[in-house]
Amino acid sequence: DRDMGTDLEKVLLSQEQIETRLTEMAAEIDADYAGREVLLVGVLRGAVMVMADLSRKLHSPVQMDWMAVSSYGSGTKSSGVVRIIKDLDTDLTGRDVLIVEDIIDSGLTLSWLLGNLRSRGPASVEIATLLRKPEASKVAVDVRYVGFEIPPEFVVGYGLDYAEKYRHLPFVGTLAPHVYGG
Ligand code: PRP
Ligand code: MN
Ligand code: MG
Repeated sequence: DRDMGTDLEKVLLSQEQIETRLTEMAAEIDADYAGREVLLVGVLRGAVMVMADLSRKLHSPVQMDWMAVSSYGSGTKSSGVVRIIKDLDTDLTGRDVLIVEDIIDSGLTLSWLLGNLRSRGPASVEIATLLRKPEASKVAVDVRYVGFEIPPEFVVGYGLDYAEKYRHLPFVGTLAPHVYGG
């Protein structure tokens, strides 16, 4: 096993748990799209691991594109005011779009993104996220595929960072409070 160091408190979701759940989600997606071509839209940078692993489990024909957004906010809280850092290269007209995210926390990023992508004339826009926190229920965003509902703890790994660290961990862990001054 990998040394978690002293910064991590515990493993919340193991590599095996993530893999098993992504397999189930991929089967659902394949069934729903029934052979239609899906345009996976990954939200940089957190969604990189989910995108890589989920897409490789899909049998549907797939294309991938990426968006980078930045949400202004005070400290670690997102404000819902979102700016596009890198836009898609793909025209969404008539496309079946599936947004791929690592986590929905406040839901503000996704709520904005959904509106933005829907205004581009796609045939459909759905969302797949590995993780969702309870706070997200305050925002009316219909999320089709959710991997795990998790408690409101500070999680890192499998794409998720704290100050750009820990994204490479193959599991999702909780950060020890001393790291973020909690
Ligand atoms: C994180 C996460 C989601 C978003 C969720 O991204 O990857 O994209 O925040 O937050 P919300 O539901 O409260 O809006 P972040 O902005 O940290 O960028 P990153 O993916 O590059 O880490
Ligand atoms: Mn992100
Ligand atoms: Mg981040």
